[in-house]
Amino acid sequence: MVEQIVILDFGSQYTQVIARRIRECKVYCTIVRYDTPAAELAAMEPKGLILSGGPSSVYAGNAPLPDPGIFGLPVPILGICYGLQLIAQYLDGKVEAGQKREYGKSLLTVKDSCCELFRGLPDVLQVWNSHGDKLTRMPRGFKAVAVTENSDFAAIEHRGRKCFGLQFHPEVVHTPKGKEIIRNFVHRVCGCGRQWTMRRYRDQAVEQIRAQVGAERVILGLSGGVDSSVAAALLHEAVGDQLTCIFVNNGLLRAREAEIVQEVFGRNFRVKLQYEDASELFLKRLGRVTDPERKRKIIGRSFIEVFDAATRKAGQARFLAQGTLYPDIIESVPIAGNPAALIKSHHNVGGLPRRMKFELVEPLKCLFKDEVRELGLELGLPKEIVFRQPFPGPGLAVRILGEVTADRLEILRNADAIVVQEMKESGWYYKTWQSFAVLLPVRSVGVMGDERTYDYTIALRIVDSQDGMTADWVRVPYPLLEKISNRVINEVKGVNRVCFDVSSKPPATIEWE
Ligand code: XMP
Repeated sequence: MVEQIVILDFGSQYTQVIARRIRECKVYCTIVRYDTPAAELAAMEPKGLILSGGPSSVYAGNAPLPDPGIFGLPVPILGICYGLQLIAQYLDGKVEAGQKREYGKSLLTVKDSCCELFRGLPDVLQVWNSHGDKLTRMPRGFKAVAVTENSDFAAIEHRGRKCFGLQFHPEVVHTPKGKEIIRNFVHRVCGCGRQWTMRRYRDQAVEQIRAQVGAERVILGLSGGVDSSVAAALLHEAVGDQLTCIFVNNGLLRAREAEIVQEVFGRNFRVKLQYEDASELFLKRLGRVTDPERKRKIIGRSFIEVFDAATRKAGQARFLAQGTLYPDIIESVPIAGNPAALIKSHHNVGGLPRRMKFELVEPLKCLFKDEVRELGLELGLPKEIVFRQPFPGPGLAVRILGEVTADRLEILRNADAIVVQEMKESGWYYKTWQSFAVLLPVRSVGVMGDERTYDYTIALRIVDSQDGMTADWVRVPYPLLEKISNRVINEVKGVNRVCFDVSSKPPATIEWE
């Protein structure tokens, strides 16, 4: 069993960030509900427990509380913010509403340099706080190892039982040395090695897939995106020709997208690839529809229909593989005021019809996105696929306002290809979340040579984001904008104007639709 740290989630919006920081230390970790019974936790044989932060007050009537048995488990515990207050509450300390809410940066002074958490770190550190409650009486057997201007108990420790509490958030970037604190906890205090690598994971996952699938057949819907591509490469390594990948061309793809998938998976990896060209069907069904929601519905329904027919054509398979990731399956804690609970299921695909009875194979379901990318490289997938920017399922249809026609698709594809090419050549493509062209079906007057033109406008959208939920436009250099604009106007017939979108999300969205 691979060594692991278990995080009890009390509803903090940063719980997943803690997990990622730990994985970056090459230590596996799992997030579980705050009320997971101590016996269940013990069975997971964790090397350490972390109690996350959370929006509640430990003394509130509806506060999420852990099984008290966890404090009796023979493993080190680290409580962060709300987690520290829980430690105090359970071990005979006292927590009260602070006079002043401590929010934002502050300076932490380490008072006890023997504390393993701060080993190798300077005595004064910048840390980031977000709490209203504060510890007013130390829990039994603990001592303060660091203080801030606002708190005499910013970091506490019970050395004998290896139990620690931090009032600040070591996981966020605003605590620049936070990663070292977490590293000290997992390696020095919990004694974890560096076992969690994608090389190991690859071998382990291949074995697990083989054990699950046996001699049966597996179907996978390949979109060309990062997740389904990595899942395909991994499954192919595990079960070879028992895997059939189905790639549906919905006619809303970008330039050369279908070719690239066929090249990489069909020719290089020699994956059994079933290519379904349904572009005409999609386009016909989209007809003169202009309403964005209706467009999405038509595309979603048609996809399921085409995919369903394709799976029947592919022959009987028992398994369906999906590139589900860890953040998709972490159960968010249903606590009032928990913003993390809102960050879910924005664009989840409707799901396949019931009669398609498959068992699921989800070989990426314990990985974060950056781990999936690392695994992709490990499996030999090209950088173009592994570091590809997100591309929406309904494709270019959400980037053509109004009717989707073959002519408009052609114009947008050509413009988009220039945007991608220039972004890559200037080195900005891999530094931004998304960069793409949008076709506005309004005509305006222009002049080209001696002639007046009356053509479409292309809007250029270049945004940065962590997860697509919020975003800001990227301040790319003017010469890059100039080059893209010149090329689009000169090379793409039907366009005489390029605009740059300077809206953030919210209130705007990333796609125009
Ligand atoms: P919005 O436009 O809502 O987009 O700000 C947020 C992120 O989601 C992507 N997106 C989609 N992804 N299927 C997807 O797989 C969809 O239907 C879909 N619609 C939007 C969008 O590209 C951005 O990254």
